[in-house]
Amino acid sequence: MGKKDEKEQVIFFCDGKKCGKYNKDPKAYLKEQIVDFGLEDKVTFRKMDCQGMCKKAPIFCLEPQDIWKKEVTVKKAKKLFEKHILPKSK
Ligand code: FES
Repeated sequence: MGKKDEKEQVIFFCDGKKCGKYNKDPKAYLKEQIVDFGLEDKVTFRKMDCQGMCKKAPIFCLEPQDIWKKEVTVKKAKKLFEKHILPKSK
């Protein structure tokens, strides 16, 4: 049993130089979805430093599932949310 304030899923987003340029839209989209579905207690966001995959920017990672996504667009973020985040939050 987790603590009350323990979130269940964490979306890590790379906020290095390169990813930071491209992650705004998918990040905004995911944040919006989380609010819309009332998942603020279950899903949290955390920054990570450059992951050395700048060519594939922007990089996102979902824990605890350990799912890594490269070249994340809003479309890919939508898939990630619907396929992995939403089902696990129920
Ligand atoms: S800035 Fe994200 S992998 Fe380098």
